[in-house]
Amino acid sequence: AQDGYKLWLQYSKIEQPQRAEQYTAYNKNLKLDTGSATAKVIHEELNTAFEGMLNLSPELNGDAPGLLILKTSALPEKLQNQFKALEDLPEDAYAIRATRLDKRDVIVISAASEKGLLYGTFAYLREMQQHKDLSQLDITDAPKIKKRLLNHWDNLDRTIERGYAGFSIWDWHLLPNLIKEEYIDYARANASIGINGTVLNNVNASAYILQEDYLQKVKALADAFRPYGIQVYLTARFSAPIEIGGLQTADPLNAEVQNWWNEKAKEIYTLIPDFGGFLVKANSEGQPGPNNYGRSHVDGANMLAEAVAPYNGIVMWRAFVYSDEKPEDRAKQAYSEFVPFDGKFKDNVLVQVKNGAIDFQPREPFHPLFGAMPETPLMMEFQITQEYLGGMSHLAFLPKLFEETLQADTYAKGAGSTVAKVVDGSLTNTQLTGMAGVSNIGNARNWTGHPFAQANWYGFGRLAWNPELSAKTIAEEWLAQTFTPNPEFVKPMTSLLLDSREAVVNYMTPLGLHHIMAEGHHQGPGPWVKDLGREDWTSVYYHKADSLGIGFDRTSTGSDALAQYAPEIEKAYENIETTPQQYLLWFHHVPWDYKLDNGETLWYNLARKYQDGVEEVEAMINTWQEMKPYVGEQVYEKTRMLLSIQLEEAQWWRDSCLLYFQQFSNKEMPEFIPEAK
Ligand code: GCU
Repeated sequence: AQDGYKLWLQYSKIEQPQRAEQYTAYNKNLKLDTGSATAKVIHEELNTAFEGMLNLSPELNGDAPGLLILKTSALPEKLQNQFKALEDLPEDAYAIRATRLDKRDVIVISAASEKGLLYGTFAYLREMQQHKDLSQLDITDAPKIKKRLLNHWDNLDRTIERGYAGFSIWDWHLLPNLIKEEYIDYARANASIGINGTVLNNVNASAYILQEDYLQKVKALADAFRPYGIQVYLTARFSAPIEIGGLQTADPLNAEVQNWWNEKAKEIYTLIPDFGGFLVKANSEGQPGPNNYGRSHVDGANMLAEAVAPYNGIVMWRAFVYSDEKPEDRAKQAYSEFVPFDGKFKDNVLVQVKNGAIDFQPREPFHPLFGAMPETPLMMEFQITQEYLGGMSHLAFLPKLFEETLQADTYAKGAGSTVAKVVDGSLTNTQLTGMAGVSNIGNARNWTGHPFAQANWYGFGRLAWNPELSAKTIAEEWLAQTFTPNPEFVKPMTSLLLDSREAVVNYMTPLGLHHIMAEGHHQGPGPWVKDLGREDWTSVYYHKADSLGIGFDRTSTGSDALAQYAPEIEKAYENIETTPQQYLLWFHHVPWDYKLDNGETLWYNLARKYQDGVEEVEAMINTWQEMKPYVGEQVYEKTRMLLSIQLEEAQWWRDSCLLYFQQFSNKEMPEFIPEAK
């Protein structure tokens, strides 16, 4: 792990003799039908992996294979019944088994499809990279979610909205002719964690991506990704019929407009038969949409859905909307706008909902739309790039945040109706399911800027495959593969990762505070931000600090956003006493002297949390210093320097927020807060 280019596909040499011996015995002879493009990819990956881990080039299709990678239909008859379970699973499923064949110990990876074999191969390599004993392998696994997508907020000029890892990896200028090796490594990395689709362009889209010349470039990427089981998708700008089609209107009920989209879809699918479909941001933050013509989200989404339906395409219609009129409470608006449309979208439409109702904060309660639209497939949108969590300079392990949202209980069908079960369709028996992650990838040498931001890409993919996976498992897997499975490294670093996101919450937005970042770029503190064009872009709108207290009253005495949640939640959170402390100021305007569970005042606790956050970063620095022997020099130094930035910024957050809020609380700084610089 020197410069981090190879991500979690390091394939470092296996030093332990027993393991190396066992691995070599299984892998030196490989049975695989390399007839297809995907099978060739599997073969190449195994060659790379075995070369790195074992210094081994496996013999292909010799007499006595130790590793068999075969579609279930091609398995030797005597093995068939060991793989029966696959029959009832989706075609991406795979099974890996250590078993006996012709008096030999063998490993068999099987699946109904080539894609399944690819996923099975990567899962097998994941076991090896963690130095697991292969002789006991018995894994059957299937994705719980169908559409597992990255959303790139990449512009055609290669800038990236909210991107902190350089410029876009899509080199539009040199496409379609040049397929860079980065694209292939990107596809490998995604396939290895089960990601099966990518939206190439920003949600604030340029219509030009839909022009013939750009579509040729998109096709070139689609062709490169296809063997890896990755489909391409595009963000469609709603007004494209005007901007590139020469029409006067983009009204979704206008026949010419409909025809334009139908023809556009036909053109795309002629070039890219497995094109995934469209993502749309409409009537949100100035983007055009059906409301411009007095039409609804349903009208807009269904028009596009009809255009792509003949080719099995889908439309992902975003629910990130908030009206241009004076907002009552921005947190309420997506729900108010979308719930009335439940059941009205066409079958190939997913409504894509951010994890929380405001905007990718360090902590938000789950979005009230989850569980509230039982007749509509809801797709989860997480943000992998750290717009509100420190950009590229803060270490924050986001699977912990994702897990918190996914495991939250919506009570939509009684206790246990978690967000994960809404998103994976199991709660309402929904067939079309999806999860999107706003990418943190750029052309930085190590892909993500902060070396540990790679873990967030990895973790997103693993959770999109299985939203029930724990953040702890993901941390352990990622650390072992990226650095070393040595427990002296993995154990302390797993704790560090798992605590890291809470540290960010503590030093930025403790106790349910939110959206108090600096204006526009959202990096660094800005609780004083006010007087912007929109009230709900300011910080004072969200924290509402005054001489009486702090926090946004979303109970029945306030905006009543709470009423959008199930009665179980509404009842508990209506009362300060029974509101989870982590959401206190999200739902209540709390007096400065209000006593929390520990008997201390709100003011004291607020200060304590800010200080905890700073101390948690100090602890991360100490742990990292001990890790020096286990990691490469470059990654050690880079992370060390980034942690020192994180510490300075954590102190900055603490000092500026407390000094700012002190004008309202009018209270002494508790003694544990050092004099501000
Ligand atoms: C946030 C973000 C924007 C982005 C928007 C979206 O507001 O700051 O850059 O375009 O979300 O998700 O559409």
